[in-house]
Amino acid sequence: MRMYDIIEKKRDGKELTSEEIEFFINGYTADEIPDYQVSALLMAIFYQDMTAKERADLTKAMVESGDQIDLSAIDGIKVDKHSTGGVGDTTTLVLAPLVASLDVPVAKMSGKGLGHTGGTIDKLESVPGFHVEITNDEFVRLVNENKVAVIGQSGNLTPADKKLYSLRDVTATVNSIPLIASSIMSKKIAAGADAIVLDVKTGEGAFMKKLEDSKELAKAMVSIGNQVGRNTVAIISDMNQPLGFAIGNALEIKEAIDTLQGKGPEDLTELCLTLGSQMVVLAGMAEDVDEAREKLSENLENGKALEQFKVFLKAQGGDSTVVDEPNRLPEATYKVELPATSSGTVEAIVANEIGTAAMLLGAGRATKESEIDLAVGIVLNKKIGDQVSEGESLLTIHANNEELEQIKKKLYDSIVISTNSVKAPTLIYDTIT
Ligand code: URA
Ligand code: CA
Repeated sequence: MRMYDIIEKKRDGKELTSEEIEFFINGYTADEIPDYQVSALLMAIFYQDMTAKERADLTKAMVESGDQIDLSAIDGIKVDKHSTGGVGDTTTLVLAPLVASLDVPVAKMSGKGLGHTGGTIDKLESVPGFHVEITNDEFVRLVNENKVAVIGQSGNLTPADKKLYSLRDVTATVNSIPLIASSIMSKKIAAGADAIVLDVKTGEGAFMKKLEDSKELAKAMVSIGNQVGRNTVAIISDMNQPLGFAIGNALEIKEAIDTLQGKGPEDLTELCLTLGSQMVVLAGMAEDVDEAREKLSENLENGKALEQFKVFLKAQGGDSTVVDEPNRLPEATYKVELPATSSGTVEAIVANEIGTAAMLLGAGRATKESEIDLAVGIVLNKKIGDQVSEGESLLTIHANNEELEQIKKKLYDSIVISTNSVKAPTLIYDTIT
């Protein structure tokens, strides 16, 4: 087999065989096929697309390019959730204990944040003592005992994806549905999930800004999952504005605690119930989403979900007293309000701009090596559709630095107040099964 022929075949719009796809992925992972040939193939895929079968074959080949996590020692159906990335997306922190409180095993592998979106591990590490450096055996034991545990990303998961992603990044081939879908799904599948719930974000702060594109990506991922024998469901949710009120590590832990007590922001609570219901159904713990939602809501009200969060934090070395005393979490020195400069209705709170402002405060990493400040971030006091009077606070900046002029300017630029009437955006656009 020759890479030249594979490139030519895809260039001419023909379907690649499983063997050809394996040949290219294995050869590239082993450094036997050079970047320039893979670049040409990626560009051909970008223009010619891939069939459903090619997409599934590509995903399988990437899964098999490295280690695969074996979760078979964990009882029950392991359902994983994946978000395509949002700002202030506190859902995992809420969902993990919430779903586990219904005995659904949550065996979560998570990464650190990069750029304007935060990482679940960073957020959890703002709980004093909490750590994700546990062995695989301990991970399995904790999930069997407590139904929930989080472990850091293992070293050699989908090396083909790592190489391909870096190459796509410099060859203008990131934005391709078959390449994005296979990239995301290969990581979930290699991480061992039996079933997968995808939260595909749409809007200004999302990877996919248009609803149509988000739906197409969701359909592509659901199709791959189902072809490789993992039940997959996708929810399309709004990312025009940040989710909930809090953006920042310790601030989001606090928000998660509120939500687990049934006192959280409306949008965050609703999205968690929607995603959680799908997870509970896929795990076989409810007949349908209505029954699942009822059970989840009950556990928010009766304190079981909150109790589960304490057990989970403590099992991984965390100080679980933060749940009852959130002031034990890292706290920023300065809390500065951002007053509205006019009266009206909030029309836009551009999510990625707010995310970047939080990163500049120190809540996120500009590069992989950056140190983050767990205490800092932003808490919105208004959301799209809310009325605001001149002088009223739009948001509170939590900072450890007094120099905030540039950040304030950025925040003002990302919030639009209108004299027209504005409706709150739709939160859940669609469910793809
Ligand atoms: N996220 C991924 O993991 N892969 C992509 O290709 C795009 C977003
Ligand atoms: Ca949030």
